[in-house]
Amino acid sequence: MAKQFDVVVIGAGPGGYIAAIRAAQLGLSTACIDDWKNKKGGPAPGGTCTNVGCIPSKALLQSTENFEHAGHGFADHGIEIQGLSLNIAQMQARKEKVVSQNNEGILYLFKKNKVSFFHGAAAFVKSSEDGYHISVNGDKAETIIGKHIVVATGSVPRNLPGVEFDEKLILSNTGALAIDAVPKRLGIIGAGVIGLEMGSVWRRAGANVTILEALPTFLGAVDEQIAKEAEKLFRKQSLDIRLGVKLGTITTNKNGVKLEYTDSEGKAEVAEFDKLIVSIGRLPNTSGLNADGIGLQLDERGFIAVDGDCRTKLPNVWAVGDVVRGPMLAHKAEEEGVAVAERIAGQHGHVNFNTIPWVIYTSPEIAWVGKTEQELKREGVQYKAGVFPFAANGRARALGDTTGMVKFLADAKTDEILGIHIIGPLASELIAEAVVAMEFRASSEDIARICHAHPSLAETTKEAALAVEKRSLNY
Ligand code: FAD
Ligand code: NAI
Repeated sequence: MAKQFDVVVIGAGPGGYIAAIRAAQLGLSTACIDDWKNKKGGPAPGGTCTNVGCIPSKALLQSTENFEHAGHGFADHGIEIQGLSLNIAQMQARKEKVVSQNNEGILYLFKKNKVSFFHGAAAFVKSSEDGYHISVNGDKAETIIGKHIVVATGSVPRNLPGVEFDEKLILSNTGALAIDAVPKRLGIIGAGVIGLEMGSVWRRAGANVTILEALPTFLGAVDEQIAKEAEKLFRKQSLDIRLGVKLGTITTNKNGVKLEYTDSEGKAEVAEFDKLIVSIGRLPNTSGLNADGIGLQLDERGFIAVDGDCRTKLPNVWAVGDVVRGPMLAHKAEEEGVAVAERIAGQHGHVNFNTIPWVIYTSPEIAWVGKTEQELKREGVQYKAGVFPFAANGRARALGDTTGMVKFLADAKTDEILGIHIIGPLASELIAEAVVAMEFRASSEDIARICHAHPSLAETTKEAALAVEKRSLNY
């Protein structure tokens, strides 16, 4: 017999599981269906983010950053280490433990909030002229009916035409996170977020990393001044970044991967790698839903078509996260999940796309919110800029990490903050103050007048705000 719920969520990534929890908190009977399997075939809720995205990548970034500090940074503190080595099997085992702790945590949260969890693949099944139900094809077949359906099926890695992922030589994010021995020569296609994070992990572990990027500019979406600084620092770390390349044939053999390409000057080149990571963006995941069968409309790029409130063209069917337009970020998916659950409950959920922060977890980290300087120029907005370097911050010196800067962009007339851009230590944490400031439509003077603890990295934010009026105190 069909099981009935007020809300049925398909997908338990950050968009789906958060939508389900919020709906249950609001008193709605809620089910969440997810097909991800752990190594034993059991449920592994959390989606891409928990299983092969945000969480495992940050675990490996932390392990390899510790290794790098132990190898280079610690000597400066008088900490001498002999016979340093990196045990990749142990590093991967730790990563897997972190992932499974998160999987277990979500299962616990479902129980705590009385969300009914179904492990299996969900599809829409047409059952009458304008009716449908959800079938779950898991250990046990189930039929589920929901007054509201929230689709949160996420995204999948995009492959190069004709070059399939085998996860041994040609790796997507899944294979890139599971490498079991440091490759001598690691190639990466795409100098985007995954390319830079995974490149950093395996470079720190000892690989020679070459990143081939089609575009002629490095990190085009990032503020130009910050991107320039990042490019300089990454090259200094010996990430071999080649911009403006055009890929030719890619073949695999028992020794690895052979890749033909032309460089930015049109010169033909051949490169050979032990492994190749392909990180050229991700595609919305709607396969298996039977979207066509019930008339769930996709846009021209394959995303589920939604309005500003995440409503699809079908009544009471919503979609959130990577499967709809907008940045493919876990926190964007979560915010949409909460907003949709609240709308279903008759409230007025809202997601402010202007204040969604971005973070790239390289070393140094890069984080930003709001407009870049080049965007403001393009849009003809009159603005003031203030920059403060970490080199002038006492806490950064004590930490032994003085790379980078904080940059404020504020409206020339009103002083409202339009964008904040950070490259430097713990930029991922510092950006939270910037987001709060922008969400409350603060002026740069508001931040400049707030007391910040000393010594702290956060003082760079205050000083950059002061720099907007050319009155930094420590620079
Ligand atoms: P997903 O997390 O993809 O979850 C969708 C879930 O639905 C999956 O479990 C999937 O198996 C399931 N599903 C799909 N179809 C069905 C079906 N028919 N039936 C049942 N279940 C189904 N973002 C950040 O904000 N910060 C980061 O640091 C970060 N790091 C990343 C690192 C990597 C390597 C990658 C690849 C991504 C990273 N992201 C990061 C992006 C982030 O992972 C995604 O934006 C986020 O996971 C999207 O959440 P979602 O809920 O929309 O989809
Ligand atoms: P991306 O969009 O960040 O970068 C892809 C890069 O590949 C671009 O620079 C693009 O120009 C390049 N490219 C595309 N086709 C190419 C080709 N044929 N040859 C050479 N270069 C080519 O995508 P990526 O890195 O795959 O990540 C996917 C998404 O996952 C990100 O956009 C982001 O939304 C999310 N993510 C977020 C993270 C974070 O928040 N820290 C970490 C990792 C991923």
